[in-house]
Amino acid sequence: MTDIRTVATRPIAGQRPGTSGLRKKVAEFSRSPYVENFVQSIFDSLENYAGKTLVLGGDGRFYNREAIQIILRLAAANGFGRVLLGRAGILSTPAASNLIRQHAAFGGIILSASHNPGGPQGDFGIKYNVANGGPAPEGVTEAIYKRTGLIDRYRTVDAPDIDIDRSGEQRCGEMVVEVVDPVADYARLMQGLFDFDRIRALLRGRFRLRFDAMHAVTGPYAVEILERQLGAPSGSAINARPLTDFGGGHPDPNPVYAHELVAAMRGPAAPDFGAASDGDGDRNMILGRDLFVTPSDSLAVLAANARSVPAFRDGLAGVARSMPTSRAVDRVAAALGIPCYETPTGWKFFGNLLDAGKATLCGEESAGTGANHVREKDGLWAVLFWLNLLAVRGEAVTAIVRDHWRRFGRHYYARHDFEGLEKGGAERLMQSLRERAGKLKGQGLAGGTIAGADDFAYVDPVDGSTASHQGIRVELGDGSRLVYRLSGTGTEGATLRLYIERYEPDPARQVGESAVALAGLAEAAYGLADIAGHTGRQAPSVVT
Ligand code: G1P
Ligand code: ZN
Repeated sequence: MTDIRTVATRPIAGQRPGTSGLRKKVAEFSRSPYVENFVQSIFDSLENYAGKTLVLGGDGRFYNREAIQIILRLAAANGFGRVLLGRAGILSTPAASNLIRQHAAFGGIILSASHNPGGPQGDFGIKYNVANGGPAPEGVTEAIYKRTGLIDRYRTVDAPDIDIDRSGEQRCGEMVVEVVDPVADYARLMQGLFDFDRIRALLRGRFRLRFDAMHAVTGPYAVEILERQLGAPSGSAINARPLTDFGGGHPDPNPVYAHELVAAMRGPAAPDFGAASDGDGDRNMILGRDLFVTPSDSLAVLAANARSVPAFRDGLAGVARSMPTSRAVDRVAAALGIPCYETPTGWKFFGNLLDAGKATLCGEESAGTGANHVREKDGLWAVLFWLNLLAVRGEAVTAIVRDHWRRFGRHYYARHDFEGLEKGGAERLMQSLRERAGKLKGQGLAGGTIAGADDFAYVDPVDGSTASHQGIRVELGDGSRLVYRLSGTGTEGATLRLYIERYEPDPARQVGESAVALAGLAEAAYGLADIAGHTGRQAPSVVT
């Protein structure tokens, strides 16, 4: 018997999970007992896991390997029977979700701060996923947070480090640690969802693709699936080696941070298809030649074409989008005669809808798209979905998207982020909007009239749980919309997100630049919330 050691500790302030797990600077996470306190609080909030299996892995960022050794000892001391650990500590978020489901694990711990920068000065993160493979619901994350405020001891074992680079079984105390191939199960899942033969035929022809893994977790997945299994020429996946600091980059797949890929997708010699994923592999960016497909549009196009891939041959039960995501998919759902759910920001809100079979396809404007195959958004899955679609339709990305706009209308869309704000000012801005929301109806804005405004609240149609204060929605008479909310994932000050949407039904006016089409609305949105007055900022830090 290995001795279980109980170590006295004291609560550490601020261990509250945000939109997607607990994210803090590496400097804070690496100060013992930061990880110990948080992970013990997770275990203390769970019941009946003795002898059961825990999935563990992360996006490979700085401190990943160290945190894994700490967590293994805590898991052993707390009585888990087995840990399935991704080799080298690597597991993309969707692959972890899949492992939990395939192996009927009790849950999983994913080490990632997603698209936040990594390295010694960067961010680290820990999130807990439950047995359905999805992020822990709010009830669980709140219980964990409460526990972090009361914790007075953690349990660990005195056992040597596990060799996390060696496949197969080892022991940490009484617990079995099984080091598994991080890619194999996930690749098998994808083979069952998409028509690999058809994609292979596409990729063996003149079609060229470029996938940018941004030196984050999807590199090994992309090389195995896109290049080895589907036959894309070697080198189609670029920046494919996971690095602890993501090569100094910002692994967020959007036109700002993946600008190299965007530049490579311009002009007649560009590849036919470009895509990128984020730190932990759950986000995606889709590019055609000279075209960035907004995540909101991507969701709508995939929904409209779902039947062309094997996974959805029988159609979709319903679709769901986070509230700030554009309403392009709503129009597709209406045309298909299926329900469309509007949920608060964060993938965890899709879990119940997916489990209950109410929604099959889900998406967020923040480059998240996914379906009922796992309980996380899934970057490479979205890429494969697009490739399958391109193989079936035999048309260019641009042609498919323009055709979609002609049929359904175009939702011009942009998100303006004001980062690193002083918290008080950002909160006062939101409070002021909240107080005025009920009285905005009928007021003129950007040449139109406000049709209604509210503070978004959600009642989960499956379990009746509620989430309030999820963002201010301002709707205009012409179908335009503004949304204001504060980020729940940032680690410095506050970030205000302003989402701007304008509907354009006229095909003659659908091919303009978003920035131009939305300029007037953006100015009006700044004024309505008095962003400059509350935050001192005249312009956003990032526009995506
Ligand atoms: C952001 C995105 C949200 C996403 C989350 C986790 O959260 O806006 O859609 O689910 O990251 O990837 P936020 O910082 O806005 O709270
Ligand atoms: Zn992510």
